[in-house]
Amino acid sequence: MRMKTAGLAGTAILVVAATVFAVTALMQTPPAGDGNARGGFADIGGPFTLTDKTGKTVTEADFKGKPSAIFFGFTFCPDVCPTTLYELSGVMEELGADADRMNVVFVSVDWERDGPEELERYVSAFDDRIRGLSGTKEEIERITRAYRVYYKRVPTEDGEDYTIDHSALVYLMDSDGRFFGTISYNESPEMMLGKLKRLIAEG
Ligand code: NI
Repeated sequence: MRMKTAGLAGTAILVVAATVFAVTALMQTPPAGDGNARGGFADIGGPFTLTDKTGKTVTEADFKGKPSAIFFGFTFCPDVCPTTLYELSGVMEELGADADRMNVVFVSVDWERDGPEELERYVSAFDDRIRGLSGTKEEIERITRAYRVYYKRVPTEDGEDYTIDHSALVYLMDSDGRFFGTISYNESPEMMLGKLKRLIAEG
C-alpha cells in the first residue's frame, strides 16, 4: 500500500517534470520556423538615435504607437537591399492604406557613405512611406547591437572600395517596440504580406 502510493506520487512528479521540461523547451524554441514566436528573442530591440532624410533626429519613441518593420542594409548594396525594398514596396501597395498603420524603416549601416541625402535619393525609388535612416558610427553600432544585426565591411577586389555583408532579416516590432517576429530573405511576397497583415492586426 505504502509502496503503491509512493509509486503513484513518483509518477505524478515525473509527469509534472516532463511537462515543465516540454514547456520550457517550447519557450526556448527560436522563432526561425515562422518568425513569430516572442519567447527567446524578446530582448531584441531597444533605444536608438538616428537621423531621417530631413536631418531630423529620430528615436525609438517616434515609432511607438504603430508596429514597425525594420530592415538594415546600405544604399550601395547590389542585391539584397534593393530586392527586399522592392518586395516590401509591392506588399505595401497591396496593403494600401493599411500600410499607413505601420512604420517601414530602412536603416543604413554604412555610416561613411550613407547620410540623409543618399538615403532620401535611394529610398525614393521605392514606396514613399519607407523611411530611410542614417547614423554615426556610434549610433549604428548601438542599434545593430540592440537588434543583433550582423554586418561586416569587405574590401572589393581592387582593394580601393568596400562592400558590406549583412543579415537580410526584416525585423517586425510591435507598437510598444517589442520584438514580434522576422521575415527572412527567402520568404515569398505572399508570406511577407501575411506577416505584415498579422503585424498590423496584432502588433
Ligand atoms: Ni543589402
